[in-house]
Amino acid sequence: MLSTKVLAPSKQFARSLASLGGVRSKHTVPDLPYDYSELEPVISAKIMQLHHDKHHATYVANLNVAEEKLAEAQAKNDVSAQVALQAALRFNGGGHVNHSIFWQNLIGEKNGGGQLHDGALKTAIEQQFGSLQKLSASVNGKTAGIMGSGWGWLTLNGATGKLDVITTANQDMPSSVGHVPLLGIDAWEHAYYLDYNNVKVDYFKNIWRVINWKDVAKRYDDAVATYNASKN
Ligand SMILES: [Fe+2]
Repeated sequence: MLSTKVLAPSKQFARSLASLGGVRSKHTVPDLPYDYSELEPVISAKIMQLHHDKHHATYVANLNVAEEKLAEAQAKNDVSAQVALQAALRFNGGGHVNHSIFWQNLIGEKNGGGQLHDGALKTAIEQQFGSLQKLSASVNGKTAGIMGSGWGWLTLNGATGKLDVITTANQDMPSSVGHVPLLGIDAWEHAYYLDYNNVKVDYFKNIWRVINWKDVAKRYDDAVATYNASKN
């Protein structure tokens, strides 16, 4: 996801060059679509500031470094170096993509957080899981079972075209296992520890109050359209 920040003239120039094939543009951290305090009391402003400005920013910085090294290795036709960089690209690229989705998946309760309105997604959730409460219980149960760091996801399964609940380890992306991400729950300690300490089940329980279901529903509609187009 591209940054919505206004580019400084130097960056605009770099992007112009990039469009001509001269310089590859670097990834940037997308702005939060709300204030740091938007999700309080479910997630504190302190966590949001650190999570976005430090953790996400580090993934982006390390992704840019890895891509620069990859370009150098490709220029030298150094296959061993290219292969060695894949782990860093997977981890930091996943960190960037997953967090970019996560910020969009959330919104404060006063701005509609937690409210799933009638539509195709709600219908699919009720058909497949019975209710939103049963879906959240399924996601929370699987996410709580992650050994170490990772993510819980509501996805569209690319093989079946149905909703699915999966987890991914570390910063692995659902696309790596053929799923389209609709809603991600960051289960890394950095996502909750300052607010919830070791009681992560309370974080998992409370985060459903700040889910931006309009965003999730849009992702579902787009994913279904893409799935249907692939079958025609
Ligand atoms: Fe995170």
